[in-house]
Amino acid sequence: MKINSICCIGAGYVGGPTMAVIAQKCPHIKVTVVDLNESRIADWNDANLENLPVYEPGLDAVVAEARGRNLFFSTDVDKAIDEAQMIFISVNTPTKNYGAGKGMAADLKYIELCARQIARVSKQDKIVVEKSTLPVRTAEAIKNILDHTGNGVQFQILSNPEFLAEGTAVQDLHNPDRVLIGGEDKDAIKSLVDIYANWVPAEKILTTNVWSSELSKLTANAFLAQRVSSINAISELCEKTGADVSEVSKAIGMDVRIGSKFLKASVGFGGSCFQKDILNLVYIAKSYGLHEVADYWEQVVIMNDHQKNRFSRNIVQTLYNTISGKKITLLGWAFKKDTNDTRESAAINIAQNLIAEQAKIAVYDPKVSEKQIKEDLISLDENQLKLIQVNQDPYEACHNSHAIAVLTEWDEFNTYDWQKIYNNMLKPAFIFDGRNLLDKKQMTKIGFTYIAVGSSNL
Ligand SMILES: NC(=O)c1ccc[n+]([C@@H]2O[C@H](COP(=O)([O-])OP(=O)(O)OC[C@H]3O[C@@H](n4cnc5c(N)ncnc54)[C@H](O)[C@@H]3O)[C@@H](O)[C@H]2O)c1
Repeated sequence: MKINSICCIGAGYVGGPTMAVIAQKCPHIKVTVVDLNESRIADWNDANLENLPVYEPGLDAVVAEARGRNLFFSTDVDKAIDEAQMIFISVNTPTKNYGAGKGMAADLKYIELCARQIARVSKQDKIVVEKSTLPVRTAEAIKNILDHTGNGVQFQILSNPEFLAEGTAVQDLHNPDRVLIGGEDKDAIKSLVDIYANWVPAEKILTTNVWSSELSKLTANAFLAQRVSSINAISELCEKTGADVSEVSKAIGMDVRIGSKFLKASVGFGGSCFQKDILNLVYIAKSYGLHEVADYWEQVVIMNDHQKNRFSRNIVQTLYNTISGKKITLLGWAFKKDTNDTRESAAINIAQNLIAEQAKIAVYDPKVSEKQIKEDLISLDENQLKLIQVNQDPYEACHNSHAIAVLTEWDEFNTYDWQKIYNNMLKPAFIFDGRNLLDKKQMTKIGFTYIAVGSSNL
């Protein structure tokens, strides 16, 4: 099938950028991204590109090029499904928070709703592409729903997991390490390969069976997160022994068998994917009775929780075991730099821990709105919420603070006038650098008590 019309259900962090790049690279294909969330679609259509709902470097230029030409954002899901020959499902697959598998399994209700809607609306044969991250063998369930509730039309299911990293999504989509397509039907696979072949070299387009493709995505995230937890585990040992985790990570990363990426110790990983995908993997392993496999991978998440909690515990202990009434500034709220995404950000956990100790929290993040920060702290009661203030200006946020915690590795934090910040803080002035971002020598010279992850002050 020669594809000239695509629809993508889900205009989030994956659906939006992925489809924008497909539209940019394939001007002959009409790409319509649909979502139930009206305000999200309105933001994607906003004339002011600064208001796009997803912040990614370079995304505004891609959207500017394709939007209105062959890229469209709409809430009319039925119409877009009806018109498209190929439908990507890119809806959220959060961890289930009820019933069997609560806290571990992926909640597939949004996926199932999409499948039922596609079945109801479709009048012609279609290729359905799983772009969301899904448990292995989900394609079977989707196929079942489509075949049993549809109008007798033929559906081919492909798995095409997305490997982009937020913060570098446009770069990753323009120049992916690989594109993975799992499927059974050769023609359907070819239709999707042909789309990517418009800009991705053939040797980087990998085709596998559907189950390998689904499982590869979960495995990739588990391996990446495992590296972070591994180096974080070593960071705690460094703090006790006088070793420096940055030096250890450089030394081991130069070994080509290990490699240098994802070896930076930090306050812990966040983001919507790592934790949920590992827990999903753990759940799948358990459901097959593979308890050792499940326990092995679960430890990656346990270690991450430990890292976040010990970071906030260290703040309390260092500030003489009480932070009640003290002002502590959090620099950064997003789960990593160059994104406005805060899902599972370590900052949320740390803020909650500090507020439980009755600290006053000031937050500054260059891309995250006050509204979002307050939404992330929805579990706090009214009195606790009064303890948090969000600043638009980093100097204001640090004014009269007892301590600063650097929680996101935004480049701009390194450009600040740290002498000025120091002058306006209470003394002794502490910095807890959760990203090992700032220059230790410079900070110490100014007078800060500078505490980094994974290096001792022995
Ligand atoms: N965020 C990432 O970096 C990343 C990377 C790779 C893969 N993934 C996977 O991609 C999937 C999507 O992730 P995301 O971060 O884009 O999620 P997201 O929450 O940002 O976006 C999902 C969107 O789907 C919409 N939606 C849900 N049900 C719908 C329905 N029935 N009809 C229309 N719209 C519907 C929601 O309103 C939401 O806007 C997940 O499975 C995730 O695991 C995410």
